[in-house]
Amino acid sequence: MESIISLAKRRGFVYQGSEIYGGMAGMYDFGPYGVELLNNIKAAWWKENVQKRENYFGLDSAMFKDPRVWDASGHTTGFSDPLSECKKCNTRIRVDKELEKIGVTADEKMSEEHLNQLFNDNKDKIKCPKCGASDFTPVRSFNLLVKTNMGDFTGENVQPVYLPGEACQGIYLNFKNVVDTTRAKVPFGLAQIGKAFRNEISPRNFLFRTREFEQADTQYFIRPNENKEAYERIKQERFDWYVKMGIKPENLRFKQHENLVFYASDAWDIEYNYPSYGFDEMEGIHDRTDYDLSQHSKFSGVDLSYKDPYTGEKYIPWVLETSAGLGRMLLAFMSDAYTEDIVGDDKRTVLKLSYDLAPIKVAVFPLLKNKPELVAKAREVYDKLKETVRCEFDDNGNIGKRYRRQDEIGTPHCVVIDFDTLTDGTVTVRDRDTTEQKRVAIADLSFAPTRA
Ligand code: GAP
Repeated sequence: MESIISLAKRRGFVYQGSEIYGGMAGMYDFGPYGVELLNNIKAAWWKENVQKRENYFGLDSAMFKDPRVWDASGHTTGFSDPLSECKKCNTRIRVDKELEKIGVTADEKMSEEHLNQLFNDNKDKIKCPKCGASDFTPVRSFNLLVKTNMGDFTGENVQPVYLPGEACQGIYLNFKNVVDTTRAKVPFGLAQIGKAFRNEISPRNFLFRTREFEQADTQYFIRPNENKEAYERIKQERFDWYVKMGIKPENLRFKQHENLVFYASDAWDIEYNYPSYGFDEMEGIHDRTDYDLSQHSKFSGVDLSYKDPYTGEKYIPWVLETSAGLGRMLLAFMSDAYTEDIVGDDKRTVLKLSYDLAPIKVAVFPLLKNKPELVAKAREVYDKLKETVRCEFDDNGNIGKRYRRQDEIGTPHCVVIDFDTLTDGTVTVRDRDTTEQKRVAIADLSFAPTRA
């Protein structure tokens, strides 16, 4: 993990948020290559979940929502983590996670009193992660929603507005709009990539647990009780997509939730084997039954039931959800691609990202920087390729250094313009993974924006 964090910073993928002010916990900014990778993950996800599916449609809903949305969804009351503080150094811990580490399960629905009892019974085994003491304050529930004061001109915060605790609520709010204005018919899915914010007690593990993150969600609306088969299919499709995008299958596994979050009747995670801390959740797949549409019908007073146009049957659709954090995906894709190998006598680091995810598809180099005719030809090739794919022109340093730099950011192909190019119109194309080089005519150079 240290090597990946170091590469992410050194090569302009991910920076600590507000770094020049000392950094802000749980916040990260994506640099020039990070944003390309992030956008490529989003584009590949969108292609798979919207473009290739006849009955899935996209959405982009506003982040600010009527505060009653979060009452209806259950987040103002049920979306909390149990918190305790080390009496010695004031470090805050998430009690359920600390109990989990010593093999004790705290049920989501457990009362504060019961949880305190469980915590007290095990207090001696739990150590403060910072100072090692075992002396903690009583457990308190801590709501994860982030409040803002938008529209609160008096500063009295009469009616708080919340940043989204989960991106999917915008989809439920627009279910009726989509049914009324498009040809969507149950079963159909809505997809959205949106930001979510959570007052996480202990942001940790780089991009894994942050306070601001993006979720790529699909919500599949189905007839009541027709959940089982579709749920199994969707779970498998999501797993297979990660493999298709280059993740080694042995680094992925399913895990069923023992403690269900308040909205779910069944929940499975796709876990990734993250470096240094092992398998943990990358994507959640939830059977939400009719919970969300029923709640919003009740709280808004608008009937969100669906009338089948063929049978006339009326019902509140059930929802099967897939929800994946983009930061966790990006970390998994980088970790899985991270490779150290030997080329000739040199050790190199290479990100073996799939072509579709690679931030830069092709790098174009003149063999020598101080030969204007090579530089001009290389510029000509670069100008042609950049019309189709994200590519980079690089004439800085010796050729070996330029290859290493591109290997580290995962560029699948490097094109070199040398003296032969000037006479026969061919270039060398080097493959990132094998380092093999072959000569190709400039006229035959062709790189697709995506291949999957
Ligand atoms: N709408 C369902 C939902 O929000 P979740 O399991 O709380 O379910 C879904 O979140 C996904 O969002 C997780 O699998 C994870 O990838 C990502 N996620 C959740 N909390 C996160 C955090 N604090 N930092 C980064 N990603 C997070």
